[in-house]
Amino acid sequence: MLKITGIDTYYGTSHILHGVSLEIGEGELVAVLGRNGAGKTTLLRSITGVNPPRNGAIHLDGIEITRLKSHERAHLGIGYVPQGRQIIPDLTVEANIQVALLGRGRKSRAIPPYVYEYFPALKPIGGRKAGVLSGGQQQQLAIARALAQEPKLLLLDEPTEGLQPSVVEEIDDIIKRIPGERDCSVLLVEQNLDFVRDVTQKFTILDTGRIVAQGEIGELTDEVVKHHLQV
Ligand SMILES: Nc1ncnc2c1ncn2[C@@H]1O[C@H](COP(=O)(O)OP(=O)(O)O)[C@@H](O)[C@H]1O
Ligand SMILES: [Mg+2]
Repeated sequence: MLKITGIDTYYGTSHILHGVSLEIGEGELVAVLGRNGAGKTTLLRSITGVNPPRNGAIHLDGIEITRLKSHERAHLGIGYVPQGRQIIPDLTVEANIQVALLGRGRKSRAIPPYVYEYFPALKPIGGRKAGVLSGGQQQQLAIARALAQEPKLLLLDEPTEGLQPSVVEEIDDIIKRIPGERDCSVLLVEQNLDFVRDVTQKFTILDTGRIVAQGEIGELTDEVVKHHLQV
């Protein structure tokens, strides 16, 4: 459903991604791993259009999206949970989700009930400003906001970063349910390997903007980790 073919992405004159290719199938959960600065976030930004690639191509369900604007990609079904959550602190929990619905071109501001089925803890705090929530609640809100847009592809950038183990477990359960229940594929950038092994089916490792390893999650051996991921 997502096909990335030989993309090169730059920040100004800095060449960050070098000929990166990656495919994600319908309903698949795929992890992107790599040390700090490897280009993981840049890859997600290339897919969302925040920082589109200069060369190569990206197709979503057979449609070329390489040069589309971010909002056009969102309309086609790309949901994005950026690193550091980036919720709107001065808006309420509810308003944060509603803004996302409007961004997807919905006329109604009604939050689809399934959003609260995944995150029941958000319902009673719907009127609270997002900025006062705990890190775990903010991450739940960031995922809820993306899910409310009914994405076909959900991009998650380090969702467990800085969270307590109990919250990580909750998020783990929800992410695993998404493909089957929401008809959505997931691309997960993560440093937490236990989480990656539990949640995803395939992995790709980036090293200084190049893909250096790819495989089924069972092939993510300690040797591979030592070689490509340890500092
Ligand atoms: N806005 C930016 N301008 C210039 N260089 C950037 C910018 N953002 C990231 N970089 C550089 O791009 C490289 C990849 O960064 P990033 O994609 O954030 O890595 P990761 O998410 O894997 O830690 C790093 O060398 C980083 O310094
Ligand atoms: Mg990053």
